[in-house]
Amino acid sequence: MIVIQAKDYDEMSKKAYESMKIVLTEKPDAVLGLATGSTPIGLYKEMIADYKAGAVSYKKMTSINLDEYVGLPVEHPESYRSFMNRNLFDHIDIVKENTHVPDGLAADLKLAADEYTAFAAAHPIDIQILGIGANGHIGFNEPGTPFDSHTHVVELKEGTRRDNARFFDNDIDLVPTHAVTLGMADIMNAKAIILLASGAGKAEAVRDMVLGPVSENCPASILQTHPNVLVVTDEAAGYYLN
Ligand code: PGA
Repeated sequence: MIVIQAKDYDEMSKKAYESMKIVLTEKPDAVLGLATGSTPIGLYKEMIADYKAGAVSYKKMTSINLDEYVGLPVEHPESYRSFMNRNLFDHIDIVKENTHVPDGLAADLKLAADEYTAFAAAHPIDIQILGIGANGHIGFNEPGTPFDSHTHVVELKEGTRRDNARFFDNDIDLVPTHAVTLGMADIMNAKAIILLASGAGKAEAVRDMVLGPVSENCPASILQTHPNVLVVTDEAAGYYLN
């Protein structure tokens, strides 16, 4: 695990993009593992700007998103499909049919989750972008999720729903109670991983991920055992690493 401490959010986003760009330019048909949330938005802006400058094309690429809320209509502005369209896909030349987000509306969620796992297994992720929850979650794999898990439905912890209420008029009751997420084993299958963390609220989770024991209590700590992980924090999120 390589850890870079940037001074602020902007520098974090730029450093992450520098590393991601190596994969994007070396592999025109790369499979991108993508994440939602506030953290990767700056990275997506870098991707869009560089695409507009003509440096990278996403025409032959495939994307696989980490997670999606259960029961939220796709058109809802806070569905992760909407988020990805708005913050990235609508601004680059990726073919929409090649962008994949778990189906949180499937009649049979378990079957849809198994199909998502199979799809991810058949399209190994070249570069996985991750954020981290204040409780150390990656994707929506909350503390206690088995390390050998695949795509599954999760009941969101209250703290996670509280963190995400800012996207739902600050009303926790509007935040879905369940989500579908790629599992820990699916994430670990990625060839390379870039995890971004920004803000003091992530400092303890980053400390536990980097310095703590590898434990299901801090899902992100499993990344210590992955051969190719870059962690990029801003100063506040990297506070305990100094
Ligand atoms: P955030 O979420 O980027 O909105 O902080 C990260 C996460 O919960 O994984």
